Amino acid sequence: MIAPVVHTVSEVRSAVSRARSMGLSVAFVPTMGALHEGHAALVRAAVRPASFVVVSIFVNPKQFGPNEDFAKYPRTLEEDQALCSTAGANLIFAPGADEMYPDGSVTFVDIAKLGDGLCGALRPGHFRGVCTVVLKLFNIVQADVAHFGAKDWQQATIIRRMVRDLDVPIRIAVEPTVREADGLALSSRNRYLNAEERAAAPGLYRALLEVRDRAAGQSVLTLELALRERLSAIPGARVDYASIVDADTLEPIAIVDRPAVAAVAVFLGTTRLIDNISLGP
Ligand code: PAJ
Repeated sequence: MIAPVVHTVSEVRSAVSRARSMGLSVAFVPTMGALHEGHAALVRAAVRPASFVVVSIFVNPKQFGPNEDFAKYPRTLEEDQALCSTAGANLIFAPGADEMYPDGSVTFVDIAKLGDGLCGALRPGHFRGVCTVVLKLFNIVQADVAHFGAKDWQQATIIRRMVRDLDVPIRIAVEPTVREADGLALSSRNRYLNAEERAAAPGLYRALLEVRDRAAGQSVLTLELALRERLSAIPGARVDYASIVDADTLEPIAIVDRPAVAAVAVFLGTTRLIDNISLGP
């Protein structure tokens, strides 16, 4: 069945309360559209025998910096609707910017520290925009569970923390990264890559695998240097960061003696790709 698209908060609210009155639980997958198999996997993970699955599609202006790709971010609502429907979604919420941020909206959710490092360092205000829109979406949909991808590890960690800190009544599920056969993590931004950049892009994951295999007993400093060196050797690559941090606090660590994550961001041409891998016990 084709999942209907609604554009207003009140339409979502009434669809969700109808589902609840039929005894269904509600699962939620927030996205910015330009959907691919990674998003489809989140939807499939959300589908349960008695669940009502809501997907949001909103290119959130508040999480883009002034020189970022907000204007050119791909908008493919028809294809997205087909993908969501095939994966088992029941409702698509695709609001306009005015519906999400009516004139006079001034309130933000600010997440200290966790949002400052890694992607936050180059993208100041990014996670403030993400947290603000995600909390709004949580309040609109009022789901029991929301599904996020491990591909955006920092984002998933921050959302989990926000939910804990603000007592938001929702469970956060984090799903594994979906990759192309050559290892490249699926991303809506992969379509920006030209043929050479696309050929070079799997180098990110290869570098992460190598560092994971060498991690036992090594100092993080040594591992980070090796990771950066491997990434810099990718043709046309410019490394933004290559960091190994505590998987939960995102704080620097000295040795991999606890759950940790190696996270990287690399420019290929003007396209910035991110990826990560879990390390440690
Ligand atoms: P977007 O980039 O569209 O991603 C939506 C969700 O899909 C995120 O949870 C992301 O981690 C997940 N995802 C993306 N690529 C994936 C992959 N290859 N494998 C598994 N999951 C993947 O992230 C956002 O949108 C926005 O910041 C949002 C949370 C919607 C707030 O605006």
